[in-house]
Amino acid sequence: MHKNGLQVAIDGPASAGKSTVAKLVAKQFNYIYVDTGAMYRAITYKVLKNGISLDNDEEIATIADGSHISFEPGETDQKVFIDGEEITTAIREENVTNSVSAVAAIQAVRTKLSTEQKEIAKDGGVVMDGRDIGTTVLPNAEVKIFLIASVEERAQRRYKENIQKGINTPLDELRLEIEARDYKDSHRKISPLTKAEDAVEIDTTSLSINEVVEEIAKNINKVLA
Ligand code: DC
Repeated sequence: MHKNGLQVAIDGPASAGKSTVAKLVAKQFNYIYVDTGAMYRAITYKVLKNGISLDNDEEIATIADGSHISFEPGETDQKVFIDGEEITTAIREENVTNSVSAVAAIQAVRTKLSTEQKEIAKDGGVVMDGRDIGTTVLPNAEVKIFLIASVEERAQRRYKENIQKGINTPLDELRLEIEARDYKDSHRKISPLTKAEDAVEIDTTSLSINEVVEEIAKNINKVLA
């Protein structure tokens, strides 16, 4: 146990419900929630804004090194900033979503962000979600969860979320995007998406949000007991 509580790592593929449940788990245990995907998205946003080509690893590394990402509590969701500029909604746009895997595959970007993530989590009391938290960022996390769900279910969830936001991407397109991102995230050379050996796998396809949260809480309480 760390000074402020446990380290809880939640990994899994795109749209498996990680951030939704991670936020609720953090609230229940009064832990801080860290969305590491938002950090990769923030760098991607700045890369696109500066017109840097996605295959220019060196310039992207320079951008990552010179950037300061921060989070602030918001009314519903956490606010995300890069160098003081609020980018909470901008990092959810399709252009960022479709470019982030390329940026997340660059070693220098991963080194910079994972060092920051380790620092944020060092005293515990943290729920961190991402792709490599249980394997690389927090290999000694006391609780490791790997969330999965079928491609069809994840596409349906994205579709419903999008409709609420007024975005009208056809379901077929979302399915293809999810498959493409799964492939890129699990086949990159550095820290690919893989389940840590000691992670508990939860298939959320036919579970409600509350059922997933309860299952994770059970795992946390087991360690706390
Ligand atoms: O969780 P998300 O969809 O917001 O993540 C965006 C992208 O960032 C995802 O396609 C893969 C990458 N990512 C990563 O490589 N490592 C992490 N710890 C978190 C996200």
